[in-house]
Amino acid sequence: MSKIFACFKSIGAYIPKRVLSNEDLEKMVETTDEWILQRTGIKERRLASEDELTSDIGLKAAKLAIERADIKTDEIDAVICATLTPDFLCMPATACIIASKLGIKNVLAFDVSAACSGFVYILYLAKSLIESGRHKNILIIGAEKLSSVVDYTDRSTCILFGDGGGAAIISQTKNKNEAVMDIQISADGDYAHLLVAPRSRIMYPKDDRTLEYLQMAGNEVFKVAVKTLTNDVMEILRKNGVSSSKIDHFIPHQANLRIIEAVREKLDFPREKTVLTVQKYGNTSAASIPMAMNDAYEEGRIRHSDLILLDTFGGGFTWGSALLYFGGK
Ligand code: ACO
Repeated sequence: MSKIFACFKSIGAYIPKRVLSNEDLEKMVETTDEWILQRTGIKERRLASEDELTSDIGLKAAKLAIERADIKTDEIDAVICATLTPDFLCMPATACIIASKLGIKNVLAFDVSAACSGFVYILYLAKSLIESGRHKNILIIGAEKLSSVVDYTDRSTCILFGDGGGAAIISQTKNKNEAVMDIQISADGDYAHLLVAPRSRIMYPKDDRTLEYLQMAGNEVFKVAVKTLTNDVMEILRKNGVSSSKIDHFIPHQANLRIIEAVREKLDFPREKTVLTVQKYGNTSAASIPMAMNDAYEEGRIRHSDLILLDTFGGGFTWGSALLYFGGK
C-alpha cells in the first residue's frame, strides 16, 4: 500500500473589524507611534467586539477554510483548536464549541495550549493523525481574543497584541508534492515564568489584579526567541536537505519585526519571500501564522506545491517549525 501523507489543503482567516492604532494607544498609555514602530514594527492591531468570543472568531476562519477545501462539514473527523484565550478556562474546549457551531458531531475535538506556537503544534498533531491512516480531514484552528487578557494600562504589553483567527483543513494525500514534509516542535518549561497569561487562582488564591492579565519579561523573551528560532530553522532545513533558496514563502510568527528581521538576515531569506503582517495585526499568538498565510494566499502569492517554511516561538517557552508544500488550489 502506498504511503499516506498529510496535505495542507486550505487556509482561511477572520480579521476583526475594529482597529486599534498606535495613535489610539498614545491616548491610553505613555507611549508614541514612533517608539512602537521602531521597537516592534507594529502600526495597528485589530480588536474583537465585546460580545465576540474566541469560538466566534475561530468559527468564521474555519468556515472559510472548509469552503476553500471544497469539503462538507460531515467529512471532517477531528477538530483541534490552539488558543491561550479559550471561551472557558478549563472546559468545555473551544474546539468543542466550534465543532458544535459547525454542526460537526461525534468526532474528537480538543484544545491545545502552546501559546504562539499553538498552530504549529496542532499542525504536527494533525499530520500524525492523518499519517496514521485513522483520520481523513482535520480542521485545525488558531484563534485568540488577546484583548481579554491584555492590561491596557501596561504600555510594555498592550502595544503588542491583537485579536483574530486562522484555520486550515489537513487532509490525506498520496502525492508527496502537496504534502507536509516535516515538523519539529519543542518546549522548555524552565522559562515558563517569563510569559504568563493569566495566572490561575489555584496557584495564586490572593486577590491580585495582575492575576487577570498577560505579563511578559519582553527583553528576555526577545533574546531567547531570536536564538531559538534561528537554530530551529537551520535544523529543519539541514535535516531535510533543503537549502533556504528553495523556500518560496517564509511565514514566521508575527511578534516583532525586529525578531523576524534578525532571523531572516541570519538565514539569508530575501525580504520578498517573507510574509509580514505584524504591522497591521500585531501579535495574535496562535492565530498569527494562519492569519499571515491567509493574507499571502488572498494576495495570490501562495500557489499549489509552493514550498513554505513556518517558524514560531511563544510562552512556555514553546517553539517549532514546519516545512510543507501547499496543497490548496
Ligand atoms: N512606549 C514607550 N516606552 C516604553 C514602552 C512603550 N510602549 N514600553 C516599554 N517602554 C520603555 C521601558 O520602560 C524601558 O524604559 P527604561 O529604559 O527607562 O527602563 C525602555 O522602553 C526599554 O524597554 P525594553 O523592554 O528593554 O524594550 P525592548 O526594546 O526590549 O522592546 C518589546 C520591548 C517590544 C516588548 C520587546 O522586548 C519584544 O518584542 N519582546 C519579545 C516579545 C515576544 O516575542 N513574545 C513571544 C511571543 S508572545 C506569546 O507567546 C503570547
